[in-house]
Amino acid sequence: MNTVLLASNRGPVSFNLADDGSLTMRRGGGGMVSGLSEVAKDSEVLWVCAALSDGDRGAARRAPGGRLDQAGYDTGPVRMLDIPPATFHRAYNAVANSTLWFVNHLLYDTPNSPHFDTRFRREWESYQDYNAAFALALAEDATHGARVMIQDYHLTLAPAMLRVERPDLRIAHFSHTPWAPPEYFSLLPDDIAAELLSGILGADHAGFLTARWAAAFMDCCRAILGAEVDREAGLVVFDGRATHVGVHPLGVDGDALWARATEPDVESHMTALRERVGDRRLIVRIDRTELSKNIVRGLSAYRQFLTDHPEWHGKVVHLAFAYPSRHDLPEYREYTAAVQRCAKEIEDEFGGEEWDPLILNVDDDYARSLAAYRIADVLLVNPIRDGMNLVAKEGPILAPSCALVLSREAGAAAELGGDALVVNPYDVSGTARALYDGLVMPERERAERGARLRAAATALPPARWFADQLAALDD
Ligand code: G6P
Repeated sequence: MNTVLLASNRGPVSFNLADDGSLTMRRGGGGMVSGLSEVAKDSEVLWVCAALSDGDRGAARRAPGGRLDQAGYDTGPVRMLDIPPATFHRAYNAVANSTLWFVNHLLYDTPNSPHFDTRFRREWESYQDYNAAFALALAEDATHGARVMIQDYHLTLAPAMLRVERPDLRIAHFSHTPWAPPEYFSLLPDDIAAELLSGILGADHAGFLTARWAAAFMDCCRAILGAEVDREAGLVVFDGRATHVGVHPLGVDGDALWARATEPDVESHMTALRERVGDRRLIVRIDRTELSKNIVRGLSAYRQFLTDHPEWHGKVVHLAFAYPSRHDLPEYREYTAAVQRCAKEIEDEFGGEEWDPLILNVDDDYARSLAAYRIADVLLVNPIRDGMNLVAKEGPILAPSCALVLSREAGAAAELGGDALVVNPYDVSGTARALYDGLVMPERERAERGARLRAAATALPPARWFADQLAALDD
């Protein structure tokens, strides 16, 4: 039984199943997991997550009660839930990633999608079952009065379900994504929109990355549920219960990141990259290949910049790292292909014997990403919409005088906007101009802005971010 429990779809570790039946462990990926891994080293914290693959299911079945006490990589105990693969697939791919992610990032191409039909209703039932499996496991493992920290859009129904089972618990929910305004959230069928909101309102504390996303959530509660909302106080009263709404802008542990980024594997990637690009200036981007990351418009902006500024030909290289993500979804596979097509067009138009204007890497390599940050002159972060975007915060820590081109729709813009070159992510010409402005920014100005960006990026490192939420629950 545990006094602090964390719940998220993806856990801190996952397993590969080899043909001979053996399992090898690796770290879980993604911004949310890396932030939380920092705080879950404590053996008092039980991390409840879903088994995502056959390897994970194998590990869960071999461990007593699915509980891995020594999960490795410095994490505390982990319980992996062995949810039936078809249920998991419908909950994760069809509802969480193809519906809730699309709603909160405003990604629908509305003349054609979404279609909420009978098939979707079946998928929704799986999402309910998946949330119920988490609520049940948390109810089993929590001591009396324990604090339960439930993460993200995969688990919006779990807070209310858990409250029914265990009214003694103190429950928090945290959204790592943006939240949609009511007129967009209302694309969802009315009963489902209401169930999602009242699911989160089962928590005592609902956390968001920025004031903007918290306000949108409260607006949805008022417009869709008819809840009583005090935006100033961050309070929603619904069904006779109050939920506090808090803003916790997750930052980066600068010392830990710097320590990792100065290890020998990173240094040797830096040497290799430098040998490849020479003394040319570097525009860097590092993303998972997600529709919300706006990689194609970013490449188009680079192309526009090269067209407008022939004096920069041969003197600049764009390092674009676009790592694989959610390849079970056709939209993501098509988007990856579109990124590759756009990159090829740039290489064909401008590249030659003497100069590679663009290096696109689509295979994941954390050490190489850290090396790229360290040698960046301009960092491009231009999402359509993003909960926070930790790339925008990691860059200034690792490259002290790098100019940051940042989308105004990234949550990070709330804290970093004053010292970044802020762009409208749909405005390709504006983004091209910002890339140019970043390249020609005087050294002193870059260093001054860089110092302020670094201070803002490290203001709330994961350990404090988590402690603040525990304290908010205690209040
Ligand atoms: C990003 C988002 C998180 C989300 C995660 C899920 O990191 O910022 O809000 O939880 O993606 O990614 P996954 O690979 O597990 O689908």
